[in-house]
Amino acid sequence: MKTLIEPYKIKSLEPIYWTNKKDRKDILKKAHLNLFFVSSKNVTIDLLTDSGTGAMSASQWSALMNADESYAGSKSFDIFQETVRNLTGFKHVIPTHQGRSAERILLSQFQSKGGLIVSNMLFDTTRANSEDYGFQVLDLPCKEFFEDESLFPFKGNIDLIALEKALKNKKVTLVILTVTNNSAGAQPVSMENIKETKKICEKYSVPLCLDACRFAENAWFIKQKEEGFKNKTIPEIVRAMFDLAHLCFVSAKKDGLSHIGGFIGVRKESLSESCKARLILEEGFPTYGGLAGRDLEAISIGLKEVLEESYLRYRIDSTAFLHEKLHQAGVPVFNPSGAHAVYIDAKKFLSHLPVSSYPGQALVSSLYEYSGIRTCEIGSVMFGKTLENGKETYHSKELVRLCIPRRLYTQSHLQYVAESIISFKEKESSKVRGIKIIKSPPFLRHFTAHFAWV
Ligand code: F0G
Repeated sequence: MKTLIEPYKIKSLEPIYWTNKKDRKDILKKAHLNLFFVSSKNVTIDLLTDSGTGAMSASQWSALMNADESYAGSKSFDIFQETVRNLTGFKHVIPTHQGRSAERILLSQFQSKGGLIVSNMLFDTTRANSEDYGFQVLDLPCKEFFEDESLFPFKGNIDLIALEKALKNKKVTLVILTVTNNSAGAQPVSMENIKETKKICEKYSVPLCLDACRFAENAWFIKQKEEGFKNKTIPEIVRAMFDLAHLCFVSAKKDGLSHIGGFIGVRKESLSESCKARLILEEGFPTYGGLAGRDLEAISIGLKEVLEESYLRYRIDSTAFLHEKLHQAGVPVFNPSGAHAVYIDAKKFLSHLPVSSYPGQALVSSLYEYSGIRTCEIGSVMFGKTLENGKETYHSKELVRLCIPRRLYTQSHLQYVAESIISFKEKESSKVRGIKIIKSPPFLRHFTAHFAWV
């Protein structure tokens, strides 16, 4: 059959909220043009993030009742540990309440070494945590990432030549591969690239860490697009990816199909012990790590459900559906279509705006005002900086991410999103003004900055 249908039925409903354009103008002003300050009851379709915003299955909800809430030695932890061990092959599994706490605990173990963290591209919290611990960060996306017209299927790859040069000439403490590459158009990383990265890391005795919150989506692309993997199962591919890493941290709010949670995976007993000592200070005892027993149960099921091919096929195809609709209508989108989101190139969409007036943030704000759809800027607001001399640094791309929560919306919701954006492009895009930053915190500024129209 040609028609793409959701591989699930809907058991429980939540309302969609409607607002009018006049109200939204007011709401936006009160939120200082920052959509993180907008209440969800004023959002019609929420594409801010795919993190913890998906729908859990009936099996997950029913497992909550069976959970063991013991402080120490919870049987829900045993289930969680076994699931993560089987999935990833990591012997030492440390639960955390979400991805960024996993990052903090793991990175703290390398803090005394200082130096550089090199990656294909770090996402916002990983970058901020690294810098907060005094590391310098270096993103080395592959050259195809910068080639707008290229349909190279693994634009999430790291540039291996640049990686080797960095490891040879600089003091590199850790290499992190983000799979899929969230700052780089949700593009996957090939198995070949992970394998070669590992080889280079071992040559220079630097550990390789996977930031693997979208591991299953990455595996799906490997199965579809990389030679030699067509007949491998998704669990085999996932395992092969993790087998190449010395360490990992994972937010379970994405491919864990859960509302909260995360974990660290390490292979060395000594590192596991020191992570756990820190865990007890920051998160809790190692058999719950900041989570309730019921969260551990939900994640254990989510980590299995996410491997189902019918689910992954629908997931990636529905992103491609939205990508295709926008692309066909001339909306400049990042190509090819990626995993969890479609990214609009705001520099091209609002080509009358200079980078200094934050076209990404201008697009996010004006799209919300026009249609009630909430999206997220992945550009110079998120990754740029105001230097001590007052000068501004800008990011290599000004993207607006239409991030699709898992199992939450149907095809018709995405059709509505496409129609709204196409209509906005035709009627209003040329009138959009630029944005200036009025107030900004020292790091992760996109979450709480105040903006105004120029
Ligand atoms: N790493 C990546 C690649 C992420 O995308 C995120 C979160 C994290 C780490 C941190 O995980 O939220 O559980 O603390 N990304 C979300 C997003 C917030 O919108 O892409 P967390």
